[in-house]
Amino acid sequence: MVVSAHPEASRIGLEILRKGGNAYDAAVATGFALAVAFPVAGNIGGGGFLVYRKQDGEVGALDYREKAPKAASRDMYLDAQGNVIADASTLGHLAVGVPGAVDGMVAIHQKLGSLRWAQVIQPAIDLARKGVVLTEREASMLNGAKESFLKANKFIPNVVRDTPWQKGDVLPMPELARTLERIRDKGRVGFYEGETADLLVKEMKRGGGIISHQDLKEYQSVWRPVVTGTYRGYKVISMPPPSSGGIALLQLLQMVEPFDLGKWGWQQANTVHVMTEAQRRVYADRATYLGDPDFVQVPMASLLNPAYLKNRMVTFDMGKATPSTQVGAGQLVAKESDQTTHYSIVDQWGNAASITTTLNGGYGSKVVVEGAGFILNNEMDDFSAKPGVPNMFGLIGGEANAIAPGKRMLSSMTPTILEKDGKLFMVVGTPGGSTIITSVFQAILNVVDHGMSMQQAVAAPRFHHQWLPDRIEPEPAAISSQVRESLQKKGHTLQNRSNYGAVDGILKGKDGKWEGGADPRGDDTALGY
Ligand code: DON
Repeated sequence: MVVSAHPEASRIGLEILRKGGNAYDAAVATGFALAVAFPVAGNIGGGGFLVYRKQDGEVGALDYREKAPKAASRDMYLDAQGNVIADASTLGHLAVGVPGAVDGMVAIHQKLGSLRWAQVIQPAIDLARKGVVLTEREASMLNGAKESFLKANKFIPNVVRDTPWQKGDVLPMPELARTLERIRDKGRVGFYEGETADLLVKEMKRGGGIISHQDLKEYQSVWRPVVTGTYRGYKVISMPPPSSGGIALLQLLQMVEPFDLGKWGWQQANTVHVMTEAQRRVYADRATYLGDPDFVQVPMASLLNPAYLKNRMVTFDMGKATPSTQVGAGQLVAKESDQTTHYSIVDQWGNAASITTTLNGGYGSKVVVEGAGFILNNEMDDFSAKPGVPNMFGLIGGEANAIAPGKRMLSSMTPTILEKDGKLFMVVGTPGGSTIITSVFQAILNVVDHGMSMQQAVAAPRFHHQWLPDRIEPEPAAISSQVRESLQKKGHTLQNRSNYGAVDGILKGKDGKWEGGADPRGDDTALGY
């Protein structure tokens, strides 16, 4: 089964499974297909994370997160007065981190794949040659980004045209097809050296970017040990730093475990209250302690220590919200941006892949590499440009996540796998910036505590709290007016936000069959055989 953000990508992944490929062959094929069919987030110019569990129980994680270029520096987004320069880390060439996606796909295939490399990449090339038929949602996203594309590029890229895009239009991608062919024929060299690298570095020079040939050539993805914990008897396997996701998720689960959420009921006042109070404490930790483990020491064991987590909840009051000012400090406003993409795959043997990949914002930096046809990320914004100043997700950070040459920016991406009784139980993840962690958290609670199916769990309306700003942000349908009132009585502030995230998961159903859950908030599609 393949669940991804785009019907074409799910179809391509499924085709590979049907041909006898394993989950990792399908993961690579789906990854490249998303770069073509879902350019808002699918990519070769970005990065991501894989969490895998093989049929024999072996688990691991691949970090193919972008890195700061060598010429990057701590204050590169500050003006002479020390203020953050608007848009510098989000739009245009300077916002781009050294892409990790292609090295990631190569590493996944080498270690875990079984089909030939050319075989898993070819379907994406064919799709790029044919052109992608736009869904209504994609047409509107492209139209919405037109001005930014024109601002970020000195030429008119294929994603822009005079008349608005409409559902059913075909987006031609001949240059991307050629870039993918170079990757097909030469592997990582087809991207990090030679013609593609030349085009990328030329693009950088044209727009004042700083990625060099050496940055590209030296980029390496890293296999890392997963972080694991338990929740009500389930084993939870997730992404370690440089993502904050796995640690934060395990902290959240441990902090709410003593409470009988299932009995209290889904989205009832006490349930939401406890979850919120855990969330505010966890995001305060995130801002202080988490960063690239190759550069800063992340106190992982302490953060996951049961005594520490119990102690964090000592100030928890069942009747009253703890103001975030008493948990930490800072002031900020969250802005919305909604594009990254998650896909979940399980093959006939029970091998599982959980992958979240991103350009960061929708269409990343909006920079399209002229002649190479792919979009570059704006992942540099995931660093803390200045202590205490929020990034585009309203997240603040400090020293641990300051910019340094070659360092990876902190992420919230949380590709996750659950086991029950030593067997694969669930594969799950989502986009959504800072809301990724709380969305995965809720998808797990929806299944484990509230008995939902995978489809119900991904579709159920969600809420979010990230310490600062100090407010619960529910989707409009997430919390009833009665529950809102009782939360306000406890001292919570609530402010609706529009629907967010796109949780795609696979669950072992009660009948022993795999059930796919595709988030109805997007064009997400579950396909299996
Ligand atoms: O790594 C991260 O946490 C962010 N770059 C993810 C961005 C994201 O999810 C965008 N939107 N949905």
